[in-house]
Amino acid sequence: MSKHEEIPPGVDDRIRRSLPRHIAIIMDGNGRWAQARGLPRHRGHKAGVEAVRGVVERCAEAGVEVLTLFAFSSENWRRPPTEVRLLMELFIATLGREARRLHRNNVRLRVIGEREAFPPRLQARIRSAEELTAGNGGLTLVIAGNYGGRWDIAQAARHLATRVAAGELAPADITPERLQPHLSLHDLPEPDLFIRTGGEQRISNFLLWQLAYAELYFTEVLWPDFKAQELEHALDWFSRRQRRFGLTGQQVEAIRGA
Ligand code: FPP
Repeated sequence: MSKHEEIPPGVDDRIRRSLPRHIAIIMDGNGRWAQARGLPRHRGHKAGVEAVRGVVERCAEAGVEVLTLFAFSSENWRRPPTEVRLLMELFIATLGREARRLHRNNVRLRVIGEREAFPPRLQARIRSAEELTAGNGGLTLVIAGNYGGRWDIAQAARHLATRVAAGELAPADITPERLQPHLSLHDLPEPDLFIRTGGEQRISNFLLWQLAYAELYFTEVLWPDFKAQELEHALDWFSRRQRRFGLTGQQVEAIRGA
């Protein structure tokens, strides 16, 4: 087999698995869920926290290794100030309340994004929840907060640029493999399944690099209504996908049958 025909390491494993190792979710539709009930938007976010709890539990039970949730994007600061303030309060209250429960359930919490922009109280809660759960070996729950996929790639590029400027690296040495270790989720498996609730079909500056080979699942269901059964639908849909990673269908069938 020539160099160009080699199957990259890990690809055959990703082709064979019917359960995703890593699920990444854009939890959209909280505002519409609340508005449909004549409630203020923040009540939708509160109901969204309940849905988070259900999905975390189900993923942990099913043996999913990583769950990444987009809780607040770099662009969400543009929302009305009251909504932003109430979201920050909700994050603070939720982390305070849920950290122990996560710990009891052997979940490791990690937050990615530019957390320095968050209120100091939220930063402190994040730090203590991460510290409390750091040694847990069950599900890794990643919360993307003030996160943007373009920011992630740019900060990784900045690391390499610094090395180039120091004369440690030539521009020609910059490859995807050299950039990858500087990305936020560098030490975790890439997402296999991406889910977006709320009917829109876009990635909205989420994990732009890491979603390269994810299967994309879109549902009309609004996030607060995304219960265990909805997750089962998504997992079932995923198990029926033929993932190819650039190979032919025949090659994939050979790997699956081996
Ligand atoms: C998008 O729905 C949702 C958000 C920007 C916030 C998501 C946050 C939560 C579900 C709380 C989770 C908390 C933790 C700690 C993980 P939207 O407001 O854009 O809904 P719309 O499209 O109907 O307006």
